[in-house]
Amino acid sequence: MQKLVVTGGQRLRGELSLQGSKNSALPIMAAALLCGEDCTLKNCPKLTDIYAASRILNCVGCRCLFSDECVVISSENISETAIPEELMREMRSSIIFLGAMLGRTGECTVCCPGGCELGPRPIDMHLTALRKMGADIRESYGKIICRIPERAHGARISLPFPSVGATENIILCAVTADGETVINNAAREPEICDLCGFLRACGAEISGDGESRIVIRGREGLHGCEYSIMPDRIAGATYLSMTAATRGEIILKNACAAAMEPFISVLEQTGCSIYASRDKIFLRSGSRLKAVNERIRTMPHPGFPTDAQALLMAALVTADGTSIFEENIFDCRYRHTDALVKMGADIQVLGKTAVVKGVERLYGANVEATDLRGGAAMVAAALTADGKTEIGGISHIDRGYEKIEDAVRSLGGNIKRV
Ligand code: EPU
Repeated sequence: MQKLVVTGGQRLRGELSLQGSKNSALPIMAAALLCGEDCTLKNCPKLTDIYAASRILNCVGCRCLFSDECVVISSENISETAIPEELMREMRSSIIFLGAMLGRTGECTVCCPGGCELGPRPIDMHLTALRKMGADIRESYGKIICRIPERAHGARISLPFPSVGATENIILCAVTADGETVINNAAREPEICDLCGFLRACGAEISGDGESRIVIRGREGLHGCEYSIMPDRIAGATYLSMTAATRGEIILKNACAAAMEPFISVLEQTGCSIYASRDKIFLRSGSRLKAVNERIRTMPHPGFPTDAQALLMAALVTADGTSIFEENIFDCRYRHTDALVKMGADIQVLGKTAVVKGVERLYGANVEATDLRGGAAMVAAALTADGKTEIGGISHIDRGYEKIEDAVRSLGGNIKRV
């Protein structure tokens, strides 16, 4: 069992080039299935979730060829329409293949997806929307069997909540459907725009992405393309939080400053100096951080991202004063707080709210990552702690960070994988 061993006390300093976005790359890999030709994806991160997506593509008959610079996905022949349970359970994004498979072959059998334990993660919005587009969906012995007799048809879909995954699944099914699909209350996350950018490069007709109303005009076939995945804004938030917490200085290169604005505007309130150009972000944090005065409420984009909640919290546990978080997206996204408390943090969780009273210092401890961002938050906290912290459960962290220990070490952090 691998662990990360972190000895705290070093200020992070230096330059770091951001990895490509996991949450863009995964739906784009599913979208490549629709093309029937080669798609070349550049800036695709090398992560366990990406390899899980490639195993799903292989299982249905596609080929994925990884090299240092890119991954090439060939989807000429689809030979299988059922995705086995063990592949579905590897990650939440496996469900995104449903919309793409229905768009390409008109049938697909899946089961409920796995992923981080952040509370109940139903797929009712995905299924309701696909039914509206003509899918016949039956559930039998844990399997979800979906079939579209002819071709999917366009529909007007109003989502009860701007779900990222449901918006992606609808887009993936709609681009090759017959007629126009309108999604109201669509998710506005930058990764949705990246997926649509890729699909447009393949010939799809989509407008309104980045807004709440997306319009997709279906067409019969898409073609292959070469596309560069956007930088990972949550990895960006991670390294900025770590640098802020250790009172360091960083230049993030290949960053997406505009997509990170909702995070940066809150981080700035801690007293850090932050300057951003289009693709670079500079942060300096010379002294103890200040607590954030306003409630930090996680909201769909362009609100404060739920994926950055644990990371900012890890920086604020040693800030001067009290910060209050409100988690509005997932029911169970405070599981990292037990580890932070074990390290000496003062955090009270009451339902959706976490009250973080800044302490002078943290102490190294043995802790266990229970989800991806919570695990990264433990690394951030460990970098500020006195002494050594051992973090187990790091397979969660590897799902979303390309060699996190190399990135942190390149900035001067004392971290190793054992
Ligand atoms: N929801 C439903 N029914 C549905 C779909 C969603 O009730 O049919 C609920 C969920 O249970 C949750 C909320 O709606 O409470 C938001 O879920 P959403 O569908 O927006 O999230 P997701 O697509 O499952 C993606 C990211 C998450 C990120 C969320 C929110 C990927 C692969 N995952 O998840 O990323 O937290 O959007 O922004 O894109 C991560 O990277 O660590 C991560 C968890």
